[in-house]
Amino acid sequence: MIGFDKEKRIFKLDTENTSYIFGVEDDFGYLIHYYYGPKLAGNDVSYLARTEGNRPSERLREKCSFLDYAPMEYPTAGAGDFRETAFEAEMEEGHNTSEFSYVNHKIYKGKKKLLGLPATFGSEEECESLDIVLEDKLLNLRITLTYSVFEGLDAIARSLEVTNFGSEKSIYITKIMSTCLDVDDDDYSILTLHGSWARERRIEYRKLGHGNQGVSSLRGESSHQESPFIALTSKNISQTEGEVYGFSFVYSGNFTAGAYLDQFNKVRVTMGINPYHFRWKLAPGETFTAPEVISVYSGTGLGHMTRTFHDLYRKHLIRSPYRNKKRPILINNWEATYFNFNTEKLLAIAKEAAKLGIEMLVMDDGWFGKRNDDNSSLGDWFVNEEKLPGGLKPLVDGVNALGLKFGIWMEPEMICPDSDLYRAHPDWAIQVPGRTPTRSRNQLVLDLTREEVWEHTWNSVKNTLKSANIEYLKWDMNRQLTDLGSLGLPADRQGELFHRYMLAVYRMQEALITEFPNLLLENCSGGGARFDAGMLYYSPQIWTSDDADAVERLKIQEGTALVFPLSTMGAHVSDCPNHAVGRVTPFKTRGDVALAGTFGYELDVTRIPEADRNMIPEQCATYHKYNDLVREGDYYRLASYSENGLYDAWMVKAKDDSEILVTYVNVTRLANYKDRFLKLQGLDAGRPYRDEETGRVYAADVLMHAGIPMEQFWGDNNSKLVHLVEIK
Ligand code: GLA
Repeated sequence: MIGFDKEKRIFKLDTENTSYIFGVEDDFGYLIHYYYGPKLAGNDVSYLARTEGNRPSERLREKCSFLDYAPMEYPTAGAGDFRETAFEAEMEEGHNTSEFSYVNHKIYKGKKKLLGLPATFGSEEECESLDIVLEDKLLNLRITLTYSVFEGLDAIARSLEVTNFGSEKSIYITKIMSTCLDVDDDDYSILTLHGSWARERRIEYRKLGHGNQGVSSLRGESSHQESPFIALTSKNISQTEGEVYGFSFVYSGNFTAGAYLDQFNKVRVTMGINPYHFRWKLAPGETFTAPEVISVYSGTGLGHMTRTFHDLYRKHLIRSPYRNKKRPILINNWEATYFNFNTEKLLAIAKEAAKLGIEMLVMDDGWFGKRNDDNSSLGDWFVNEEKLPGGLKPLVDGVNALGLKFGIWMEPEMICPDSDLYRAHPDWAIQVPGRTPTRSRNQLVLDLTREEVWEHTWNSVKNTLKSANIEYLKWDMNRQLTDLGSLGLPADRQGELFHRYMLAVYRMQEALITEFPNLLLENCSGGGARFDAGMLYYSPQIWTSDDADAVERLKIQEGTALVFPLSTMGAHVSDCPNHAVGRVTPFKTRGDVALAGTFGYELDVTRIPEADRNMIPEQCATYHKYNDLVREGDYYRLASYSENGLYDAWMVKAKDDSEILVTYVNVTRLANYKDRFLKLQGLDAGRPYRDEETGRVYAADVLMHAGIPMEQFWGDNNSKLVHLVEIK
């Protein structure tokens, strides 16, 4: 899959349907990018480097224009590439120019781990990798660029390591992008996922203009506002047609992802750790590892990109034993009770839930310290015995006796100024000495980069989980990082705090899944502010949004599923009127929309209308019937309510084509409107299918080109599931 042409000094990375080609040019040994697109049989595209008659070593006078024009594989700052560069380092003397030349490379089976970071993985049979070593001899800096390709998938993983191999001086890395791609402009737009709390990951297209544009986070988390994903899309893009280059960052902290349209109408895409507030000291002998970016090229529309990310993340990123398993149907008490609960109340919910087919009770925020609202107690991870007399054990035993599993909520990274922990260790919060730190939700962030703080926090998590039979943890994170200062770092390392913080969180989640290998972990951040590929390395599912309104969820889940598998999207049926938008939707629709995710309930099952309650056993049975398909199948987006303003539809097809589940939600009923036919995608034309409900038989090509009739419901927000089974 990865080849090197010794004579021409060309590297070629082939995936199932794509080729990625670059080479070593000029006597200096620049790495020049040639091509990324549909698979090519040969590699003879080096003319795309535009070096012919233009070699910088021969035409010194033109070197600057060459560097600012040539498609560079990993451009660095200061020597004449005036576009958005990928790397910048500062010497002790204060200079920040670097120029790296090729030294050697290695092609090998399998894939390396990234030290302390989440990353895709694969066996020697599944992956092949390439390490390319570049050096700047003046700076004594070595960069090792790593690329990996995966059997059967159109995805390429990139990351890099930087080593200071000098013996005397430190170097400061001030910018380190994990990927860079130069392509000729084809009238591209950029596609990003923007949002806000309760409104995450909305699809947005922007026509590229000259200069730089993109998305970023400086919040210490991947964020509600902008997701670490960017794609270049061609003019005619749709689910089934057009070109797309998608980039997804396997990282949960500050990021930047941009597209720079230059003077010659060429586009450069870069993605990496946000360089703002980033300054990493590399002492002699030290190495820095940058997180991984996954790129996917599809010449057949967005759908293929989406399914490639889904397959890659399901097979090569998520490690949890739950990855290929049905998750227990849970009921979470947050929207049911907020902070106002006790053992008796939780047992009453559990008792009713057990009768209806729900399989796990999750106790949310408010069980510890003196936490009766969100103003205090984070950090005091001891049970509030006024609410839960006798501690966790009697409650958990009671829940287990009803036949339910038990799960718990924690927000380990935080400390409230009103907590015993803060009174004992005010210096444990991230802060700038002498400045009153900004509060958000009346809490501060623990400085987990300090060993004693990390140890204490880890022990709190560990001891809580060991204190009863806890089988699920919702790990929350409810505020962004501000007032960056660590009392544990010297002045010239303060610029490392954002990234060190992320490494400390990753280290704790690694410890967690190592110590509790069977725990079902769900990451969460004020809803979906940490819905990123980094988190999926530790948890097989992430809470998608605090907005569980069925209609809002159509948009949120469409955007999320553009990159992330359905099996990872935390989705629940919640109460009405909805707590985020006040909308009332049918209980069935709420269920059908939540079935596209992990599925569960977020309501007081003892208090909802009887008619709704009576639907729960059937919804649970539907979950059991279809979850294998939804979790493991191929997802196709058929219609988008965000685009058409009327209805939404998607389908999941089994990998072996044996069955299809179509979900249709008619958000707005049109008056005097008759028939709507929904066209399916991706079917093998030879196969007939039977609609399980109506018994009607359809040929696959009919399903794709003529479509299935969709009911025009009376009223808004109604939904329908159609199950099509292959006739063998
Ligand atoms: C965040 C989560 C919610 C809930 C609350 C508890 O907002 O996203 O689901 O757990 O915190 O405070």
